[in-house]
Amino acid sequence: MKEIYLDNAATTPMSPAVLAEMTDKMANVFGNASTLYGLGREAHTVMENSRQVIADSINAASDDEIIFTSGGSESDNTAITQTAHARQKLGKHIITTAIEHKAILEPLRALEQEGFEVTYLPVDQQGHISLDDFKAALRDDTILVSIMTGNNEVGSRMPIHEIGEILKDHQAWFHTDAVQAYGLLDIDVQRDHIDMLSTSAHKINGPKMIGFLYRREGVNFPSLVKGGDQEEKRRAGTENVPAMAGFATAVQALTPEVKAKRQAKYQGFKQHVVDGLTANGVDFAVNGSLDGENLNHVLNLWIKGISTYVMQTNLDLAGIAVSGGSACTAGSIEPSHVLTAMFGADSPRIGESLRLSFGTYTTEADLDAFIQAVTKIVTRLKHTNEVK
Ligand SMILES: Cc1ncc(COP(=O)(O)O)c(C=O)c1O
Repeated sequence: MKEIYLDNAATTPMSPAVLAEMTDKMANVFGNASTLYGLGREAHTVMENSRQVIADSINAASDDEIIFTSGGSESDNTAITQTAHARQKLGKHIITTAIEHKAILEPLRALEQEGFEVTYLPVDQQGHISLDDFKAALRDDTILVSIMTGNNEVGSRMPIHEIGEILKDHQAWFHTDAVQAYGLLDIDVQRDHIDMLSTSAHKINGPKMIGFLYRREGVNFPSLVKGGDQEEKRRAGTENVPAMAGFATAVQALTPEVKAKRQAKYQGFKQHVVDGLTANGVDFAVNGSLDGENLNHVLNLWIKGISTYVMQTNLDLAGIAVSGGSACTAGSIEPSHVLTAMFGADSPRIGESLRLSFGTYTTEADLDAFIQAVTKIVTRLKHTNEVK
């Protein structure tokens, strides 16, 4: 049975070009990039070339502003914990949203235990914050604002440019988690006045356990991982040069044209699924907005009356991989904090929703298989309930 993979927001397969690049670098460039002899210098060159590709991809002013990390979680943890500690003399207030990834929310909870005050901006039923709420929350003692570029469970996008404009003359540093948005949107840290930005390679057909934290020149904080002087003392640990090279290869594939094409293609995919389920009489609703202005690769569906667990298990039996929420929430029975923030803890949507997410290798045939499988499962379960 061919596995149909519709969980690209959780992770993506590596592209053949990334695999080839990494295989080559693992076989041939094994030197420690911090050493001074030839093999080390060779690894250093590969690392710095990768850093340049990545800096260019977000219009960073300099490649020095890119810190390689182990991925989105480490970038987020660093941006939150290290900057809060570094800036606490200026204030202890932080602003975020209620629907950030746990890699943001968990370090914030820890900071609250230490006496920091965190404002969690609420979202509407489309998963959007209000700029008025943001302006009302901003205070003189706000030291950090962390607002994701796009949400991983429902795809809602945040007004990053407007927030950057508001903050450019404020002391607060502006961090955005762009882990889901990086592969799709045109990201420009200078245009949007972003001070820090997190990404992760495995969401864009790159390898796992590598990502970067962009930090604007002048945004300084001590390293979260302490030890050697790698990454100019901003992240200790022997550099994973093949992963950096693989990451850069994945980034190079994401030209502005490719991103624009993907946005249109994935938006068409969303509509295709919605039209197919509607035509088959499935009782469902979209969680969030179908609007093309949201992250086009994420589609969250409430299949009315069927628990997420039952639907996911039945789809798995049919060879279809989808998520019940974010990857980290999927294995647990914890309700989605994103859907809870959008619809309230009592909404049936919390226990009856699925997330589909599209990627480079998703085809319309995959979507048709999903539509047919859901239709069959719904019909069968309805029938079973009726004969009971
Ligand atoms: C929005 C967002 N932030 C952070 C992360 C964590 O990234 P990583 O898996 O690279 O640690 C994820 C992963 O699901 C994500 O979707």
